Amino acid sequence: MNRIVYVNGSYKPYADATVHAEDRGFQFADSVYEVIEVLGGKLVDATRHLVRLERSLNELSMPPPMSNGALLHVISRTIKLNRVRDGLAYLQVTRGEGPRDFAFPSIGKVAPTLVVIARSQSQAKIAALAETGIAVKTMPDIRWGRSDIKTVMLLPACLAKDAAKRDGAKEAWFTDAAGNITEGASSNAWIVTQAGVLVTRQLDNRILGGVTRATLADCARAEGVAVEERSFTRAEALFAREAFITSASNTVMPVTSIDGQTIGNGAPGLLTQRLRSLFHHSAEISDL
Ligand code: PDD
Repeated sequence: MNRIVYVNGSYKPYADATVHAEDRGFQFADSVYEVIEVLGGKLVDATRHLVRLERSLNELSMPPPMSNGALLHVISRTIKLNRVRDGLAYLQVTRGEGPRDFAFPSIGKVAPTLVVIARSQSQAKIAALAETGIAVKTMPDIRWGRSDIKTVMLLPACLAKDAAKRDGAKEAWFTDAAGNITEGASSNAWIVTQAGVLVTRQLDNRILGGVTRATLADCARAEGVAVEERSFTRAEALFAREAFITSASNTVMPVTSIDGQTIGNGAPGLLTQRLRSLFHHSAEISDL
């Protein structure tokens, strides 16, 4: 099937879908993005993703490319044109194209670039991974001081993921100078303490406020499971009863080893599995 990409007003075959060589997203990573899960031909947590997109744009004084209604229409159309039932919708907004200049062009002088991609992802593959759990590798967090903004400045995440992959791990967990886990390279990090308390780092400028994180915290609290939003160290994580990551691409994915050390009994934790099975019941599921 010929895949179709939305770029600045048109739906084009991949080969023709291009952005300008002087696009600020390409030259300066002056660009934000979102990844939304598509499940059974429906969008998962679209509202929360659009709220976060608006926040990222605001933090960078970037005008939105179009209204949320129009954006949802473009996302839906791209998903349908690519016949995606289960997968991901990726959208990226850049400040636009213009002669290379570090300072921002005046508002209204450039038009934002908008790209929307839809890709299938096998639910069976992810479910199989969740049966065994994944390994993670810890790495120093060398990212900038505004990791709460979902920008495409992802080179530190690429370096960390690549190092993790070379070590046989699926995700990297970043550590700050004090030895605390901040988050995953493309996910939020969670542990379940020996006392059965769910812990994930508090929101601030050092981590991305994950949509899956927010929905899962609601889900856990509705189930009567206590959630503590606080820092936790690598040492505490190694001693945890359970560990997992959350992201739109994996929902809840058990972590069964950290830096080669087994977590709990080495199998996905019971609470982790329960939350994974409940997640989509708590999420907002909307028709295309
Ligand atoms: N990544 N932290 C970071 C650094 C991320 O890149 C992501 C998501 C998350 C989880 O956010 P959410 O639950 O909203 O997906 C946390 C996406 C999936 C990606 O870059 O592919």
